[in-house]
Parts: sequence; C-alpha cells; structure tokens
Amino acid sequence: MTYIITTPLYYVNDKPHLGSVYTTIICDTLAKFNRLKGEKVLFITGVDEHGLKIQRTAQNNGLTPEKHCDEISNIFYTNWKNWNISFDKFIRTSSKHHISIVHEFYKKVKSSNDIYMGVQKGWYCVGCEEFKDNPDNSSSYQCPIHKKPLEWKNEENLFFRLSKYQRDIEELVNNPEFIKPKERRNEIKNFVSKGLKDFSISRTNLNWGISVPDEKGHTFYVWFDALLGYISAISLNEANKSLNSSLSHGWPANLHLIGKDILRFHAVYWPAMLLSAGISPPKKVFGHGFLTREGMKMGKSLGNVLDPNLLLSKYGEDRVRWYLLKDISLGSDGDFQDKRFVDIVNNDLANTIGNLLNRTTSMSRKWFNNAVPKGINVNDDFFKELSEKTITSYITNFEKDDISESCNVVLSFAIKINLYLNEKKPWVLIKDENNQHEVKQIIYNVLESNRLIALLLKPILTDLSNKILKQLSQSDVNNEKWRDNLVWGLLEPDTNLPKPVPLIEKLEYE
Ligand code: MSP
Repeated sequence: MTYIITTPLYYVNDKPHLGSVYTTIICDTLAKFNRLKGEKVLFITGVDEHGLKIQRTAQNNGLTPEKHCDEISNIFYTNWKNWNISFDKFIRTSSKHHISIVHEFYKKVKSSNDIYMGVQKGWYCVGCEEFKDNPDNSSSYQCPIHKKPLEWKNEENLFFRLSKYQRDIEELVNNPEFIKPKERRNEIKNFVSKGLKDFSISRTNLNWGISVPDEKGHTFYVWFDALLGYISAISLNEANKSLNSSLSHGWPANLHLIGKDILRFHAVYWPAMLLSAGISPPKKVFGHGFLTREGMKMGKSLGNVLDPNLLLSKYGEDRVRWYLLKDISLGSDGDFQDKRFVDIVNNDLANTIGNLLNRTTSMSRKWFNNAVPKGINVNDDFFKELSEKTITSYITNFEKDDISESCNVVLSFAIKINLYLNEKKPWVLIKDENNQHEVKQIIYNVLESNRLIALLLKPILTDLSNKILKQLSQSDVNNEKWRDNLVWGLLEPDTNLPKPVPLIEKLEYE
C-alpha cells in the first residue's frame, strides 16, 4: 500500500510565499510521519503553469510563457530543496509527459459521453481562474478573495456534464472521512445540495494551455488540466508513462491537502471528472485555513506576503515549522505575528526543549565521567507509563492529521520533565554522597526523555531532532526502526556524551 499525499500544484504567477510554504510544510510533516511509521509514501508537489493568469503575468514581465514558467518553476523547486522538503515527485503541468496524460484522460471522459459544446457566459476572476456564481453579492463585481474586478466572458466552450454526477458526489461528500475539517464538509454539502451545474472545460482565445484534441482553437481550462497533475506526477521518471501506469502505483491518493479556497475543485469537480473516466476519487481532501497578516489573506495578488526565504535565512527551518505547525491548528486560520513567533520559539524550543537537554547532558558529563549514568533502573514504572501515554496520544493525533495537537503532546511531555528535574534538584542532591544513586536515576530519566522527545520531533523538526540525537550519541534512526525505538528505556547506560552545544539560540524581539 502506498500512502499518496499531495500539495496543491502552485500557480507560477510569482515565487512561493509563506502560504505555499505553509501547505508544503504540513504535507512534508505528514509524509515524514507516515514514512517513519513504515509506510511506502509518495509525496507529490509541483506547479500549475497554464491559463490566463500565467499568460498575462509572463506578458507583463516581457517573457514568453515558457521562459517565465521555467524561471518560476525552478524557483519553486529550489525553494522546496532549501526547506528540506521530502517530496518524491515534482510535476510541471507544461511538461510533455503531463500533456499526454491529459489527452489520454480527456478521451476517456469523452467516451463516457460527458463532453458537449455550449456557451459560457459569466463573471470570471482571473486570480482564482474561476467563474463566480453570484457576482451581485460581491461588491462592485470584485473577487472577494483577490479584491480585483471580475471580467465578463461570453464564449463557446466545451462543457463537462457535472450534473450527471449529482448522486455520486452527494454520496461522496456525505462520507465523513472524505472532506476535513467538518465545517468545510458542511459548506461543500450545502453547495452540492443546491444542484451541480455542468462546467466549461475549454477556452477559446487562450493560447497558453493544452490543446483539446479535435477541437481547433480550444485549449483546456486550467483546472481541468492542473488537477490531472496529481496523476501524471506518479509516472514521472518511470519507464511507463501512461495514465494506466500512473494509476497502478497506488492511486487513489490518500490525501489532497489544500487551502480552503480551492476545496470545491478538489471535493466536487475532481471526483466527478475521475468517476467519468472510471477512476477512483481521492480518499480524503483536507482544506486548511489561511495564514493572515494584519487580518488579510496573505497572497501574491494582494502584495502583503512574507518572504519565506528571508524567514528561512534569518531563523532556520525548525523555528518557522514549529510556529506554523504547533501554533496554527490545521483547518483554522492563523495570523503570523512577529512577537508571538519570537515568544513561542524561545519558550518552547530554546527554553523547554533546548535547555532541558543542555543542562542534563552537562550535569551527566560532570558527575558521571562524560557519560550517561550506569547502574540504574532503565525501566522506571512512572516514566514507562508516562512515555507510553505520550507516544500513543502523539500517534493518535497525527493519524487524525492533528499535527498541532501532536506538537502540544511533545511539548507538554517536555514541560513535565522540566518540572520533574526542577522538583528533584539533582544539583542539590549531588552534594551528599548518599544521594548518588538517586541522582543517577534522575539524570537517566531526563536523558532518556530527551531521546524520546527527539524521536517524536523527527517528522516535525527533523533538523532539531537530529541535533538532539547527536548530543545523546544516538545514531540516526531510519524509517523502519523509528517505531521500535519509540519505547522507554533504550538509552544505553554509560553511553559517552559529547560536549554540549546550545541546541537552538534564543531570539531577540526587534
Ligand atoms: N494552482 C491552483 C491549485 C491547483 S491544484 C491542482 C492554486 N494555486 S495557488 O498557488 O494559488 O494556491 C495554492 C495553495 O496555496 C492553495 O491551496 C491556496 O489556498 C494556498 N494559499 C494561498 N495563500 C494562502 C495563505 N495566505 N495561507 C495559506 N494558504 C494559502 O490555487
């Protein structure tokens, strides 16, 4: 069984912003968690390169669409490498490989008698690449998301018979496991219950798109093309690049993780397209919230973006990941605030986690010959039970995609261990020779807790996790061994401890 997880395929109208980094970091964490659990994972990301929005952006930059897409796609690719994102496939929708799969797929939908020619009239948002249902409700024909005027379109387009799939889609969206979180499912159920309307899947007067076979002058609507990127990505770099080959590698996808603004495409249009082609719909679609800044959606079109590369070079990936993953509950909106960012990473990472390790390894080195104490009980009942509870709760939350709660579970474990250390005060006890044994046991318990904290942090903060393991002289734990190592008492007594280095520096709020 392969666990397939996807990010949205990002528009290349501009370089990545913190919103796209956010989605990608979540997927990365879920991909890493599933790999650590021993699953075979296929983590797909990539870029969405066609359509009017990209054509216009290229034009404004004085570039051909091809040249523009090459440049921005490359930035996305390099960006994910810089953030150490563990993607397996990076799909570009302008690639030949993808184009041939779109053609193959279209033939299947056509042979299901689900394509017809019609006239599309309506108000269009180029930013969303979407016709808006009810422009009268949005003030002065503006897109409520992009705050830009809608454009009137009236052209002959090919239509997809979405209405035919009313019953199937109703059934799908009624399944509580299909759309997450729950509130978003209700929105979609509501939309579906109003009756699905056929939608246009081709454009005329748009060169920058995939041509529709046997329909001169028509290119595919960018969403019809882009959604298929999730499937074409699978056979990328494989010997057999056909639609069937893609589908044979573990489709359907386990999880499409997307922003809430594009839920309808993923939870309604996409499954219907797939059903029409005789392909299973994805198992789950999760619509996360928006990152805001000053209460406004952060977005390329709005010009209020936080440069993720600046954040990365200034603070490093672990701090940013911790803030985004722990402080924002997946599904809810989150506001990026500088002061809160500094407070959270200082308290949680530098003080609670970093300091705990640092002071304990220092004490152990000083009192026990630069090593983990020996002659102790590695199976202290209280810690065994506490760690088991922690691990179970962490895994259960992760399996519900509640990364934030898993982070909190690790953090509260670290807080408890800090309290234990502060209550026991081994630095006072050590002054009396008779307390030697007790001190050894306390230090062992805290060091062993640190080992577990490192393992639990592995899918969340891989870099920090590796640093902790290194300071405990633990070799890297590969995916097959992670779960087996997540058991109390495996830190070998008398293991040599290297000289401690601060794990993560405290930040000053500027
Ligand atoms: N190209 C389409 C997706 C096609 S998938 C087959 C697209 N691209 S996008 O670049 O505009 O957006 C990609 C994702 O980033 C969307 O899920 C969107 O919701 C998300 N984000 C964009 N701005 C965001 C924030 N400010 N905060 C969090 N995520 C947001 O839509």
